[in-house]
Amino acid sequence: MGREITEGLADLLRFYRELGFEYLPMPRDELLLSSTGTSHGTGRRQEALMGLRERIGDCKRCRLSKNRTNIVFGEGNPEARLMFVGEGPGREEDIQARPFVGDAGQLLTRLINRMGFKREDVYIANVVKCRPPENRNPQEDEISACLPFLEEQIEIIRPSVIFCLGKISTHALLGIKTPISKLRGNFYSYKGIPLMPTFHPAYLLRNPRDKRLTWEDAQKVLKKLKED
Ligand code: URA
Ligand code: URA
Repeated sequence: MGREITEGLADLLRFYRELGFEYLPMPRDELLLSSTGTSHGTGRRQEALMGLRERIGDCKRCRLSKNRTNIVFGEGNPEARLMFVGEGPGREEDIQARPFVGDAGQLLTRLINRMGFKREDVYIANVVKCRPPENRNPQEDEISACLPFLEEQIEIIRPSVIFCLGKISTHALLGIKTPISKLRGNFYSYKGIPLMPTFHPAYLLRNPRDKRLTWEDAQKVLKKLKED
């Protein structure tokens, strides 16, 4: 191997070690995709997700419909073993009809990449599918109106791990109100699926020192994906 390549590799390994990785986050198909993945299966999950999107339609089930530009359904690999759940669309997401494409989204994308994945490998969804005005927190009745759609997405995708971003999604899925700072770092069960709460990327933009903790949570998620 050429000297430059060897040095480049050594640099990369140091980089990962500094981030606290105990092994290289190299994605393997079996780490990422369910055993009934598209290459063998029927696209059943993809079809079920499309059916759900159709049933949501031009939704008017809650007041968030009044100010939205687009419904942000969620995106990614229907066969993903890893699913990220955020709170709700912001301005950029509302315009583009895609989850996590604004500033917080860029941080999430970096997290996904550093875990060894691409955005297209995982699935990304939110608790509410329409942008709350001025990015306020979604209210209880708005969450109740929209949560069944997220629950159905999870049911269809059946990920091996749910990585829950921030308190709104964690509280909505677990049905508890414990502060995220207490919950994060430990696995909980959502209908038998391991769920790891962590900080929301928007919070991490304001509190960059806590990124380290989210890295720790990400490594526990990688370990869990490897286990089963
Ligand atoms: N914040 C979220 O919770 N979800 C998004 O899609 C974007 C920002
Ligand atoms: N508050 C939140 O809503 N989310 C976090 O991740 C941290 C504090």
